[in-house]
Amino acid sequence: MEKYVVIGNPIRHSLSPAMQNRIFQELGMNAKYDSVLIEEADFETEITRLMDSGVVGFNITTPFKERILPFLDELDSLATASGAVNTVLRKNKKWYGFNTDGKGYLEGLEEIRLITENDSILITGAGGASKAIYLALKNYTTAKITVANRTSEKAVEMTKNHSNHQAMTLDEAEKNLADFTIIIQTTSIGLEASKNKSPISLANLTKGTICSDIIYNPAETAFLKEAKKYGAITQNGLPMFVNQGALAFEIWTGVKPNRSLMKDAVLEQLGGN
Ligand code: ATR
Repeated sequence: MEKYVVIGNPIRHSLSPAMQNRIFQELGMNAKYDSVLIEEADFETEITRLMDSGVVGFNITTPFKERILPFLDELDSLATASGAVNTVLRKNKKWYGFNTDGKGYLEGLEEIRLITENDSILITGAGGASKAIYLALKNYTTAKITVANRTSEKAVEMTKNHSNHQAMTLDEAEKNLADFTIIIQTTSIGLEASKNKSPISLANLTKGTICSDIIYNPAETAFLKEAKKYGAITQNGLPMFVNQGALAFEIWTGVKPNRSLMKDAVLEQLGGN
């Protein structure tokens, strides 16, 4: 049986096993995908053990996406540019690292409509997820991108030397909100439903703007609730999660999986919300 895993910490609530096993089952493949908790202090020992265990491929989630790099032989262009890997494949005794987060995000966004040079995109947040999305949008679309972050230096660092793109403070972004056709929320603020907070006020939003949050649990963050109130087209992080997993599946098996089955598997785990 072929063995696949996702490693991270925490990992208990990962929905990747349910999503990937659904596809292995559907295709009648003799393969199994599990989650593996790795303690931060044991990463080097545990990753070596895992790579010696006959695993064919694996996913990496927080906080190990950068620490895996020294263990890999080759990286794809997005993994190289972001310095982070979420998918690993063993092939001919070599280890290949990929980053499917940004492309997965873009595939999900383009389920709404194609992105063109007329789009002006605001990304709030400048952490790992933001960087992956920024790089995919920069490399695969012609839209103009603005990054706004609480710690504004990080947004400046991300966009420097990229002439078509820029950084703003969150305050500036709020004031200029009507200029954007798409707003992507990548900060972790919405993860705590109790906080009920959006990183920016959407009072200046134009009706029909696409507002997208990378969080899918809760299904509707404070940001998405507010966006709906102002007449935005909204999307949560589920399409990104499904598509990054589908791209990983394709890297491992060469088979393009049925994304809607993967989505159903995730929704079942989330309790149908
Ligand atoms: P991830 O890998 O999910 O992107 P991360 O790299 O830790 O996580 O990044 C978290 C992002 O959320 C950062 O942009 C962070 O802003 P700072 O760079 O200023 O820390 C942002 N963030 C977290 N809590 C926030 C809050 N309460 N208000 C605004 N931004 C917040």
